[in-house]
Amino acid sequence: MTDGLRKGLASYGDAGFSLFLRKAFIKAMGYSDDALDRPIVGITNTYSDYNPCHGNAPQIIEAAKRGVMLSGAMPFVFPTISIAESFSHPTSMYLRNLMAMETEEMIRAQPMDAVIVIGGCDKTLPAQIMAAVSADLPTVVIPVGPMVVGHHKGEVLGACTDCRRLWAKYRAGEIDDEEIEAVNGRLAPSVGTCMVMGTASTMACITETLGLSLPMSATIPAPHAERFRLAEASGRAATAMAKAKGPKPSELLTKSAFRNAQVVLQAIGGSTNGLIHLTAIAHRTPYRIDLEAFDRLGREVPVLVDLKPSGEHYMEHFHHAGGVPKLLAQLGDLIDLDAKTVEGKTLREVVAGAEDVPGQTAIRSRQDPIKPEGGLAVLRGNLAPRGAVIKHSAATAKLLQHTGRAVVFDSVEDMTLRVDDPALEVTADDVLVLRNAGPKGAPGMPEAGYLPIPKKILRTGVKDMVRISDARMSGTAFGTIVLHITPESAVGGPLALVRTGDMIRLDVASRSIELMVDAAELKQRQAAMRLPEAPEGANRGYAWLFNETILQADEGCDFDFMRREGKE
Ligand code: FES
Repeated sequence: MTDGLRKGLASYGDAGFSLFLRKAFIKAMGYSDDALDRPIVGITNTYSDYNPCHGNAPQIIEAAKRGVMLSGAMPFVFPTISIAESFSHPTSMYLRNLMAMETEEMIRAQPMDAVIVIGGCDKTLPAQIMAAVSADLPTVVIPVGPMVVGHHKGEVLGACTDCRRLWAKYRAGEIDDEEIEAVNGRLAPSVGTCMVMGTASTMACITETLGLSLPMSATIPAPHAERFRLAEASGRAATAMAKAKGPKPSELLTKSAFRNAQVVLQAIGGSTNGLIHLTAIAHRTPYRIDLEAFDRLGREVPVLVDLKPSGEHYMEHFHHAGGVPKLLAQLGDLIDLDAKTVEGKTLREVVAGAEDVPGQTAIRSRQDPIKPEGGLAVLRGNLAPRGAVIKHSAATAKLLQHTGRAVVFDSVEDMTLRVDDPALEVTADDVLVLRNAGPKGAPGMPEAGYLPIPKKILRTGVKDMVRISDARMSGTAFGTIVLHITPESAVGGPLALVRTGDMIRLDVASRSIELMVDAAELKQRQAAMRLPEAPEGANRGYAWLFNETILQADEGCDFDFMRREGKE
């Protein structure tokens, strides 16, 4: 028996009256008693005119509703916040926890026996999964899917690795105004999420690996008919889960499931943001992501997926090569195949169903990897006592061991004002440092870690420099970029002590990032340090809540009061 419409009655002090009233009102929609007696599957509507990545959400919802009804349940669609990367001020990360709280409470507040959450644009899948995990109702995730690729002058283009690459060429004067305008119309040729291995694709692959969505859900292109058939099948799966009252997220998100997700994060050359989001999801369960263990995995797990920015292909090629099931098959004993999925299957059954595509080059074997080690490495040192992250699979090999003079920017604004100033004293061997761009300092940890290379250096043909910050970076970017320095400078982390002219040593092989200033001098600087004031507007509302309770990157940047007690 499911609870359907009887679940979570509004309290009027008389349960019978509460149900009577609820039915009286909902009948205004024209529903029959038969419809209202069915199990209920809630479906989140994350469509927004501001969110082109979710442009196919209405069709996904229609298909999911069809699946729910064909299998004998009643779908109820309800809106939640929608977050689009390029339409979120100050940053989408600032809004992720708001979306997670709002979605969790609406799942709790409204009667439903299972829920389908629809997301894709970077922060939306993590937010909805964080919500579903805390609500712990049977949940199926439907990612909106990646865009198809674009073309320009015979070259294949994709958002947003090529957005950055071509913008850098424009800044360097290698392409003109007319061409950059033409490119602007070709980078995002369809609805859907960025089609490289950015954060959206990373989180979709992680979601599928965690068993929270159906096989192939991460990779089917957003406009393809197959995606809507997947949505219909997800509707059927949600009905089965509503009737069986499970599996719930708490049954799927085991220690093994989180380990599998970390293996896949390394093997896809996934976004650094993926590590923060996975950590935040884990903090909603009894489990934790141990950065040292994640780094050790990275030494064992090769990058097998040949996608930009670490490799050459795009999400549709990954899909046509067999998608996540084929990747899991190639990873073999690195994956715990006993882990379960929303359909009650094991990953072993998912892998058994993986397509074999002769001649495909997007998913490599362990004998012939793209990179012998995983995509992400965790660094430590006197600059990052609680860790920092680098996507070394998408960095310049010769810069992975580098000592250079710091050129410090105090904030994102300071960097914007000075980075292209011809008077800025900077060479290609220097290390660009950005601070006050962390979770609390910016606020919202903007994707400003991809510091632009100063124009005067770009024009000499230099394509990469070592850049370090407490900010995040788009998963679509390429460069030797150290991110998430923790603790951040705004809470007194050592990044706040760096001065222009100090020497910094990066050594990825030994996983270290060091400020080469002696301890006594650092102690003096620490004593003189003043923490920045709270950002403007942080004395009320959501900004206050964010400023008071945001956790650091190594804890997933969730609010401190949303965590669950952890045991391992
Ligand atoms: Fe939405 Fe990239 S901007 S996924």
